[in-house]
Amino acid sequence: MLPTIEWKDDAVVMIDQRKLPASEVYVTCTTAAEVAKAIKTMVIRGAPAIGVAAAMGIALGMRRSKATGTKQFTTEFQKLCDMMAATRPTAVNLFWAIECMKKTFAEAAQGGCSVDEIKHRLEREARKIHDDDVQSCRDMGAHGAALVPDDARILTHCNAGALATAGYGTALGVIRAAAEQGKKVAVLADETRPFLQGARLTAWELVKDGIDTTVITDNMAGSMMRLGNVDLVVVGADRIAANGDVANKIGTYVVAVLAREHGIPFYVAAPLSTIDLQTPDGSRIPIEERNDREVTHVGSSRLTPEGAHIRNPAFDVTPAKFVTAIITERGIARPPYSDSLAMLVDGGQLAAGSRQ
Ligand code: MRU
Repeated sequence: MLPTIEWKDDAVVMIDQRKLPASEVYVTCTTAAEVAKAIKTMVIRGAPAIGVAAAMGIALGMRRSKATGTKQFTTEFQKLCDMMAATRPTAVNLFWAIECMKKTFAEAAQGGCSVDEIKHRLEREARKIHDDDVQSCRDMGAHGAALVPDDARILTHCNAGALATAGYGTALGVIRAAAEQGKKVAVLADETRPFLQGARLTAWELVKDGIDTTVITDNMAGSMMRLGNVDLVVVGADRIAANGDVANKIGTYVVAVLAREHGIPFYVAAPLSTIDLQTPDGSRIPIEERNDREVTHVGSSRLTPEGAHIRNPAFDVTPAKFVTAIITERGIARPPYSDSLAMLVDGGQLAAGSRQ
């Protein structure tokens, strides 16, 4: 499995996703600040992977702490949590992972644990978040593969693969699981302007796995659907509001509307850590605006004239009405999502027909 992020001796090591597919190089982070910078600058990206990285960064930072008393140690911990929370605003997995670390810290501190014991527990929690994420992806894959017919032509947007998680992937996990079951699958990967996660990362992962992959530019998706070349769409998510509205990579909304127009199922695969029941609908999801340079340049070449205004929202919101089903590690949620998502998060059973 791809080593998206892992502990190595006294450091957190991640594959540099900015450099793929041209070169496979690794970034070694020895401080929490280096991990935060890696998240911000997209060395590591993808909602679940961002959460995992933040947890590992906090554990790493606290391991390095020289504090002897719990007061100083607590202040340092809070600072690291704030630093991680300021990296990227949209993926709720980041805030979910920070909350997990805070809960671990609070339980250990209230239980009278020593500073060393708290360090140990934080690291254990970060490792658990990592390992659980891989397991969730595999479970999501098992549920989602049932929705993939044999000989399916599947369109995906951005990269919701092993690189975007601790391993295996969400949307690509569904595709992988279908392929592992012996189904014939062919993937159309949207290139995903401006950061090109689809062309660079999704294509790299799938080609490595021997899965039939065709890269298209984003503006080809509608035509491919109209020509009958797409049987289903599956994408990941950065945050799913309580009503089922889905924030994901910019361009996802266009794909969802096109899929509806052409009668093609539009599936979202995401772990429960991506579901944000505190956010009632998509209008409340913060959308990250990234640097103009991602739009104005490819590498060192300028594409746009000086003086043109630039917009670079990194995500959009797809209204729940366009989402055929949401695939999670606990089962498949169907509309109305305000009921089915709440049930899944609670660990409850869905009504017959909602869960598959
Ligand atoms: O800006 P990115 O590359 O972090 O955006 C990633 C996406 O939008 C993914 O589709 C999403 O995080 C799901 S990853 C399993």
